[in-house]
Amino acid sequence: MYTMPGVAEVHLHDPQTLYRHWEDEQWSPFDVALERDVEQWRDMGDEDRGLVLWALSSLMVAEERITTKFSGLVGAHGTEEEATFLATQQVDEARHMQFYARYQDEVVADRATIADHVSRAREALSPAFGTIFDELLVNAHNRLTTEPADAVAKVEFVTLYHMVIEGTLGLTAFNFIVRYLEGSRQLPGFVEGYSRIHHDEQRHIGYGTWFLREAVGRDPALAEGVRTTLRASLPAVAEALTPPDRGDTDWEALGASSEEIRDFAISGLSRRLKIVGVPLDSL
Ligand SMILES: [Fe+2]
Ligand SMILES: [Fe+2]
Repeated sequence: MYTMPGVAEVHLHDPQTLYRHWEDEQWSPFDVALERDVEQWRDMGDEDRGLVLWALSSLMVAEERITTKFSGLVGAHGTEEEATFLATQQVDEARHMQFYARYQDEVVADRATIADHVSRAREALSPAFGTIFDELLVNAHNRLTTEPADAVAKVEFVTLYHMVIEGTLGLTAFNFIVRYLEGSRQLPGFVEGYSRIHHDEQRHIGYGTWFLREAVGRDPALAEGVRTTLRASLPAVAEALTPPDRGDTDWEALGASSEEIRDFAISGLSRRLKIVGVPLDSL
């Protein structure tokens, strides 16, 4: 008879294994075909176009922040194997930013620098994005850069970056945006690039879960750093997942209800936090 594995037995890849996976899973943001997307974008109705533009703007801004606010973690590595994996994650994030910038260049906007695409994209986003990416992430990164040996600073950074931004906001956005576009057979090039990015993100989130479980396992007092970070950031995540011009509570977007989106976000987060050893209900 099959029984579900207990949390303690969940197998997580270590950084060396994740690095070997990275070597085998290379792709180029410039190899994804975008011709069909250009045609479909031209003919898309206003309602769809607005939602897709909002999603694209979120991704453009998020990947820029995530790329440029990461090097502190590379500098705070433990083993050489961890340093190697973290160096690959930095390349991945830059590659993701390049894909969204290319998509802006070739499908939705005129050619421009990444900075210009990012500043235009920022205009479409709610203040919650500023809270997550300009305040919480920037502060956590500055602290880690100044104190690379501070275990609390590293735990708080990885909680915010890997658990909250990548594991909660990122995975939820991917699930609903891709489900909607695939269901309506729209923007196949975007779906392909975004799916490759999602595959990379699984490695990143795997690292974050592994790191936090090791850290909290070694020093249980570090669980408080996980909790503090979640308390400070989760309300802004809920707001960032709400499209503009929607009410606070019940809304529909991309063929999903606000409740369905919230449930998806929380169930993934709570599964990973159980593995880490800091269950969500211990907040
Ligand atoms: Fe990314
Ligand atoms: Fe990532």
